[in-house]
Amino acid sequence: MGYQLMRLSPFSRVTPLLVVSALVIVIALAACSSDSEHADSGNPVTPIPTLVTIDTPDPSDEADADPAVASGEEVFAANACVACHSTGENDVVGPGLAGIGERAGTRVAGQSADEYLNEAIKAPGAFIVDGFANAMPGTFGNLPEGEINDLITFLKSL
Ligand code: HEC
Repeated sequence: MGYQLMRLSPFSRVTPLLVVSALVIVIALAACSSDSEHADSGNPVTPIPTLVTIDTPDPSDEADADPAVASGEEVFAANACVACHSTGENDVVGPGLAGIGERAGTRVAGQSADEYLNEAIKAPGAFIVDGFANAMPGTFGNLPEGEINDLITFLKSL
């Protein structure tokens, strides 16, 4: 009798502990696995469309926002403006054109940004940017008015 109680009593003390710790482990595992399931199923799925949507809107957004910008960019490329101008800040033969939209209105007293850019394209010799040669061809005034306007819209987007 005494022996049996001795044998039973450790069990009856250990069993609730085992049950509790087993429950804790099961709950912890369930929490972990459901967390990681969500994380696993959420993570690979979410970034893929995110990456795709980040990649696609960049070029198409610009074109969607203002078709004149995209068309002006084509005129810029087709007329070798790129041979002398970067669209960044670095100067090539001519000044880098990043931020030209803001500078344009301050170049010549009394000229708005549009007026200055229009003249800079059609009659580049009329105003020479400090530190540069009068090296821009004066032939772009022959471009159709629509292309020059798109070009100006593109330049102001830089
Ligand atoms: C052969 C080289 C050359 C080509 C090609 C050229 N440019 Fe220029 N451009 C220059 C130089 C040099 C200047 C700076 C001298 C001046 O003000 O005329 C300049 C100045 C400018 C400016 C004024 C920049 C400022 O900071 O005020 C604009 C705007 C401009 N160019 C736009 C264009 C566009 C648009 C085209 C193409 C249609 C083009 N350029 C083609 C050489 C060139």
